Amino acid sequence: MKVIYTKNELFSLIEGYKKEGKCVGFVPTMGALHNGHLSLVKACKNSCDIAVTSVFVNPTQFNDPEDLKRYPRTPEKDAELLKTAGCDLVFMPSVEEIYPEKDTRKFDFGYLETVMEGAKRPGHFNGVGQVVSRLFDIVQPHKAFFGMKDFQQVAIIKNMVNQLKYNIEIIPCPIVREESGLALSSRNALLEEEHKKNAPHIYATLKKARNLVAEMSVADLKKWITEEINNNPYLETEYVEIVDDTTLKVIENWNEKGTKVVCVAVYAGKIRLIDNIIL
Ligand code: PAF
Repeated sequence: MKVIYTKNELFSLIEGYKKEGKCVGFVPTMGALHNGHLSLVKACKNSCDIAVTSVFVNPTQFNDPEDLKRYPRTPEKDAELLKTAGCDLVFMPSVEEIYPEKDTRKFDFGYLETVMEGAKRPGHFNGVGQVVSRLFDIVQPHKAFFGMKDFQQVAIIKNMVNQLKYNIEIIPCPIVREESGLALSSRNALLEEEHKKNAPHIYATLKKARNLVAEMSVADLKKWITEEINNNPYLETEYVEIVDDTTLKVIENWNEKGTKVVCVAVYAGKIRLIDNIIL
């Protein structure tokens, strides 16, 4: 496995692989890697010849400067873990390497950015669009792998791929959880002990909610989930939404067509966690 710091070196290595007819897969990350990321790298390696991973904490997608400051950074450990997962190339660029000049592009993701994370974290998806498009331009992969914990992000990336006409297949991969049910996230490392102990209550509630669909209206189920989570003194919901899995349109009736997914954002102390479950 090679660790690469400049886009020129990465680009020429990948060009070489492509000339040999190899399929190149890409896993963009912000580091502080856990088994969720490693499952993406493994999925990538299973379906491509070459697995490229980027580790870059992208400043343009943080709407809260404090969140950016405290975001965990563990580059040496990340490189070790990536090696064990079968990664071929790790790209660890500096901020200047990715943004030699300020990126002033404004994406229009339409309705997709008006709900949930888009509504609560203004500018977040614009920053995601900026960095992922820059990384796609450098890596030019055949396939790119994203975790479904960031459910809305997957919809945004697919939309961006269509808008910018990238010839890249987007592969969503299942959420990986701790045995407790807590969805793996780099932010879990920042949880205080009591919050960490209580955070599995989020997924436990989502699982119970799945069994209540036949008994309650959409509005009542949202209310039930909100109260059930907020009854735990260590947790506070920011939003609870039930949306269509592709359009992200907020569902009002169970008889609306399509697969439905419950998405939540929950504060565990100062740390904001997201999770979702397909109904
Ligand atoms: O999901 C993430 O970790 C980030 O949003 C991504 C896709 C790596 C872009 O910085």
